[in-house]
Amino acid sequence: MGVKEQYRDYVMTGFVKRVEPVVADHGDGALLYDADGTEYIDCFAGISVTNAGHHNRKVLDAAMAQAERLVHACSYVYHVESVGALAEKLAEITPGDLQKTFFGNGGAEAIEGAFRLAKRFSGKNEFLAIESSFHGRSYATLSVTGNSGRKKGGGPYMPGVAFVPTPYCYRCFAETTPDKCDMLCARRVGEVARLHLSGSVCAFIAEPVMGEGGIIVPPDDYFKRVKEILDEEGILFIADEVQSGFGRTGKMFAIEHYGVVPDIITMAKGIADGWPLSAFTARAEIADAFQIGDHLSTFGGNPVSCAAAVASIAFLQDGVIAESARKGAELKARFEELQRAQPLIGDVRGKGLMIGVELIADPATKAYGTAAGAFVRQYCLEHNLLIGVGGNFGSVLRIQPPLVISDAQLDTVFGTVADGIAAYASVS
Ligand SMILES: Cc1ncc(COP(=O)(O)O)c(C=O)c1O
Repeated sequence: MGVKEQYRDYVMTGFVKRVEPVVADHGDGALLYDADGTEYIDCFAGISVTNAGHHNRKVLDAAMAQAERLVHACSYVYHVESVGALAEKLAEITPGDLQKTFFGNGGAEAIEGAFRLAKRFSGKNEFLAIESSFHGRSYATLSVTGNSGRKKGGGPYMPGVAFVPTPYCYRCFAETTPDKCDMLCARRVGEVARLHLSGSVCAFIAEPVMGEGGIIVPPDDYFKRVKEILDEEGILFIADEVQSGFGRTGKMFAIEHYGVVPDIITMAKGIADGWPLSAFTARAEIADAFQIGDHLSTFGGNPVSCAAAVASIAFLQDGVIAESARKGAELKARFEELQRAQPLIGDVRGKGLMIGVELIADPATKAYGTAAGAFVRQYCLEHNLLIGVGGNFGSVLRIQPPLVISDAQLDTVFGTVADGIAAYASVS
């Protein structure tokens, strides 16, 4: 039986209707190869994970060396060198005075842990989140996920959660334009906390650049304004950097673009170039609120994953993030230029190599280009390019390649996406 038949008969696939017909066999930098040898430029990086590139020699060597010594001991029962080294490194690279880290396995687990810690520290239990957000697929993380498409069939959800409008300038809920913006979306954070919850608001969680929601980039002053309000109300700020972290936006963490220090930061995906690992880091005074018996994860802080993360971060810091910021800015500028000639492109957004191209069905109404998104994604696949599609209505093309992608490869990416959009325009 082949792998496609095994998937059909034995693998639970609860996300897409049809797993892509690609058999991911091996990778190299920004390239992914099918078992039949077909080469793809991978502009989705396993959903924004392999930031240091597929088959990164430095990361592999570090992971292999650790695997030869020890694969697992339980990092919360015994001391493990790679765990200590990574925790110290995260204290250095996370903003401000964030210092102590708890390690888990996936993004949702990090957020669940961050919530538990925030409750312990604050003695409160309600949460604020953003309407188009995505934070994971566990009970608590789906409860604070605003993207309703992701929540179907999973309710009822956790009580004590309220949502604030998405800071989505292209589709501003206040119907204002950026030049007249008075940051009503930020001001709503305080109002919603007071009006829609019961006075026990523990934390506000937000993605500094929103991934699944369609690469939504909040306005420059958004988080400064929100943080002032949160501080006035005594509410913690949890920055969910699961998707936007580790150089994805051209800085180590996306919140650095906003000059704001969160109280807790959650991480996963790009942390270890594909080895399963997640983390949340908090100020020491917050971290110390955990009491004996409060929190553990059997596999959390796996020694091999932590060794891979230390090597991956060192690799990214060695000029790779700065270069990816340049490459991302150039690619975004090319899409902006294309937008001026192509009415199907409603908006081009992003920072670094986290770029969204929002397609619309009708420039007059900005109707979501859902069919266009599906078409272009399929066109790219048929032309050896893997991209993602996001947004609440699947109308945003997501370009999130390994940060090591070359200029020549990005040239091909731009050409293929532009051709795909033109092909849709000619048949629609
Ligand atoms: C911003 C954000 N938070 C949390 C998660 C959940 O991560 P995981 O799938 O590793 O649980 C995701 C996954 O896409 C995400 O994008």
